[in-house]
Amino acid sequence: MRRPLHPLRLSCSILFALVLAGCVGPEGPTGEIGPDGVRGPAGMDGQNGEDGTDGSDGQDGTDGQDGQDLTIPDFVGSDVCGACHEEQYNKQIRSGHAFAMLATGGAAPAPSAQFQGDYPSAPPVGLAWSDVSYVIGGWGWKVQFVDTDGYLFTSGAVGPFVAAQYNIEDGSWVDWQAGTAPGTLATDCATCHATAWSIDGNQGGLPGLVGTWTEQGVRCEECHGAGGTHVEFPLQVRMRIERDAEACGGCHSQGPEARIPASDGFGHNAQQWNEMANSKHRALDCVDCHDPHSSALYSDQDWNPGQGIISECASCHFREAANMDSVAMDGFACTECHMPPVTRSALGAGVVGDVATHLFAINTDPDAPQFFTEGGQEFMSPFLTLDYACRRCHSATGFAFEKTDGELQATADGFHSQ
Ligand code: HEC
Ligand code: HEC
Ligand code: HEC
Ligand code: HEC
Ligand code: HEC
Ligand code: HEC
Ligand code: HEC
Ligand code: HEC
Repeated sequence: MRRPLHPLRLSCSILFALVLAGCVGPEGPTGEIGPDGVRGPAGMDGQNGEDGTDGSDGQDGTDGQDGQDLTIPDFVGSDVCGACHEEQYNKQIRSGHAFAMLATGGAAPAPSAQFQGDYPSAPPVGLAWSDVSYVIGGWGWKVQFVDTDGYLFTSGAVGPFVAAQYNIEDGSWVDWQAGTAPGTLATDCATCHATAWSIDGNQGGLPGLVGTWTEQGVRCEECHGAGGTHVEFPLQVRMRIERDAEACGGCHSQGPEARIPASDGFGHNAQQWNEMANSKHRALDCVDCHDPHSSALYSDQDWNPGQGIISECASCHFREAANMDSVAMDGFACTECHMPPVTRSALGAGVVGDVATHLFAINTDPDAPQFFTEGGQEFMSPFLTLDYACRRCHSATGFAFEKTDGELQATADGFHSQ
């Protein structure tokens, strides 16, 4: 289902090893400069190949402040962490978190050897890359674009009906926020798409960018806190570690957790916490199954060395794994039935969206509704219906034989009981 691997990615991971080896040396000496929050903007320049040197310049300029705030750690940026935590760094830079937001520097976003996303070869029709200050996304599903004043491009921003969203899987361009006038949609996305977001000011002075941040994308210090003193005294000063699902849920949720928002027959994206909180897996943490530093997408080892799913379902559910009430489907991955793509980020048709759900439970009653309306709003039921668990395959458009409700229910009832 995922797109084929781009050839650039293979060469980039090799380059990456070289680049990293080259980076580690020079950063050692500047380690003491850690306590310096103002360096966030400089960090972003760093991710554009040519601007990298600017980033280090920024660090030099702040030396003078060292003596003052040893007790209040400043943000140092993930490259500094990477000098000592190479393993976590190497995995994290190839995950969606690192791609959540990226300054273009006025050129096509092929940010560096480490950062090869799936960006379109050209910006939306009528625009040049110099008209685009940031891209948002570019790892998993789609890309959106920010203008040079910091506002999001909407459909119709340039000329009539220009599509403002790029879909990665099929390379299509589609409308996004078509009803919104050009140059008016503020980019309030960095609360979830950047590191250490603060409500004060506008990043880089661009009026459309809401708030400021220390580093683009979701990087080390978003989850572990400012590292300024840790990098100086790693053994004395420990970093914050939050394993709770709620910590991930701060960004991976939509509205109150009691309800799971939906529209047009699909769940919303970015709501893994709402879904999981309405299943029996509420008892688990996201990091029981996920390596927080690695991508959950793509099985290619070079592109995704971390292989972010760290627990087999069967390691907890060994009885169900041993009892599958179908010879034909015995070898199927648990996720085929229990985590179908019921939610949508970029693409969706019929019962097939493009984000794996975290609901897990299957309701075998053929009349159970997958979606319901309450107070004029659409929501998902806290379980999967047979339509979504089975008919992605068992339908006229799927690759398995079409089945009646009765046939599906007969197999689904007590599926794992002997
Ligand atoms: C100069 C090397 C160095 C740098 C730079 C560095 N660390 Fe560490 N870090 C260490 C060492 C050594 C340990 C092990 C400490 C221990 O086991 O008690 C550690 C431990 C950690 C831990 C685990 C703490 C625990 O309680 O288990 C985290 C998380 C961490 N570092 C995050 C970071 C982040 C984020 C950055 C960048 C802001 C960073 N580190 C920068 C050397 C470094
Ligand atoms: C999305 C949040 C998140 C981000 C971003 C993140 N970490 Fe972590 N990190 C965690 C969590 C949660 C744990 C605890 C994992 C566990 O115990 O299973 C952890 C654990 C660690 C540890 C302890 C050893 C280990 O691997 O469990 C180190 C060291 C560390 N992180 C460094 C980093 C560095 C360096 C970066 C940036 C390259 C980073 N982290 C980015 C959430 C994050
Ligand atoms: C509440 C946190 C949150 C906010 C606010 C938010 N996002 Fe996201 N976004 C996410 C999460 C989490 C994902 C990935 C998980 C998913 O889609 O289910 C994501 C995914 C995306 C992706 C796809 C990324 C990729 O690599 O394909 C794009 C593009 C995106 N968001 C754009 C935006 C834009 C534009 C805004 C502001 C208008 C925004 N987001 C605001 C949390 C958020
Ligand atoms: C600061 C907000 C934020 C926090 C906290 C956060 N995420 Fe994310 N996460 C995002 C955004 C934004 C995206 C989409 C980025 C993209 O794909 O471009 C995302 C994407 C993902 C993805 C899909 C992309 C991939 O490479 O697999 C996974 C899996 C994920 N997050 C897991 C976690 C886990 C586990 C935690 C907690 C340890 C966590 N996230 C905490 C914002 C956050
Ligand atoms: C770390 C252990 C663990 C892992 C790994 C795990 N589960 Fe579970 N699962 C649980 C627990 C605990 C429950 C709740 C059991 C109960 O209350 O009877 C549960 C419940 C369930 C349920 C019933 C859900 C409901 O809401 O009624 C399903 C279905 C399920 N798991 C499927 C999966 C699948 C599929 C995977 C792999 C993607 C998986 N589990 C991975 C521990 C785990
Ligand atoms: C029981 C194990 C389990 C737990 C707990 C879990 N996940 Fe996942 N997650 C998975 C698996 C397995 C996949 C890959 C599914 C696939 O693509 O087939 C995944 C995929 C994802 C994705 C990418 C969606 C996609 O289309 O592949 C995101 C984002 C994500 N998880 C976030 C989270 C967050 C946030 C939490 C906690 C609120 C969480 N997960 C808890 C097992 C789990
Ligand atoms: C990933 C695709 C896929 C999913 C999801 C799936 N199936 Fe199947 N199923 C197949 C294939 C392939 C066969 C082999 C014969 C065929 O093409 O129908 C099969 C066979 C069957 C059969 C006939 C023979 C047998 O050995 O049981 C039944 C009944 C069945 N599935 C029911 C279900 C039910 C119920 C669900 C949902 C809970 C489901 N399937 C989900 C692909 C799938
Ligand atoms: C062909 C589809 C299919 C596959 C593949 C599948 N399951 Fe299930 N599973 C079901 C159905 C249907 C139910 C609901 C049975 C019922 O309610 O009687 C279920 C129920 C469960 C439950 C809940 C049991 C309970 O007592 O509430 C767990 C846990 C579970 N499955 C785990 C797994 C694991 C682990 C795997 C992979 C080894 C797996 N399933 C593979 C269809 C599937």
